[in-house]
Amino acid sequence: MTSTPLPETPLSLITPESGESFFFRSSARGPDGRFAFQWRLAAGKAGPGPHVHPFESETFAVVSGRLQIFMEGRCHELGPGDVLVVPAGVTHHFGHPGTEECVVEVSMDGTRMEDQFVPLAQHFRSPSGLPLKAVPLTLVHLDHAMREGSTHADSAILRGLIRAMAAFFRLFGVRPLPPVSGWDRAVAV
Ligand SMILES: [Fe+2]
Repeated sequence: MTSTPLPETPLSLITPESGESFFFRSSARGPDGRFAFQWRLAAGKAGPGPHVHPFESETFAVVSGRLQIFMEGRCHELGPGDVLVVPAGVTHHFGHPGTEECVVEVSMDGTRMEDQFVPLAQHFRSPSGLPLKAVPLTLVHLDHAMREGSTHADSAILRGLIRAMAAFFRLFGVRPLPPVSGWDRAVAV
C-alpha cells in the first residue's frame, strides 16, 4: 500500500475491475493546454492493453511505486521522480512490478481523451466506481473515442468487439455524452 494521500480534485473515475482510479485535475482547454489527471494503479493490475493515441502525446510522472511502460519494443522502468513522454502515434502498454500501488501524474496535450473520460466521470459520479449500468454508455464512448481518434486498442479483435457491442447499444438509443467545459473550475467534491 502506498501512503500517497488521495488528491482533492473536481472529478474522479474509479474502475474497480481494472484496479484503476483517475483523479482529474485540469482541462486541456485551460491556459497550459494540458489535460492532467492522477492515475492510480492497484497492486497486481497493469492498466489498459496496447493502445495508441494518434493525435496526443501522453506524459507520465511517477509519484510512488514502480511502473513499466512498453513502447517501440522497449521496456522503460520508472520509479518515483521519473518522467516519460509517449509521443502521439506510438503504441504503448504497461507493466506493474512489485506489490505496491503505483501513483502517476499523467497529462495529455489535447482535448480528445478528456472529451471521452470527463463526461463519463461527470455522468456517473460514484465514489465506489462505475455501476453496471455504465457498461453500454462506456462501450459507446470507447467506440466514439476510436472514431474521433482519441485512442485505439492495438488489437483488431478488441476493436471489432467494441464496434459490434457499441453498434448494438446504439440500436437502443445509447449515444456518447457531449464534451464538458469548465469542469476543472468546479468545487472539489
Ligand atoms: Fe495511453
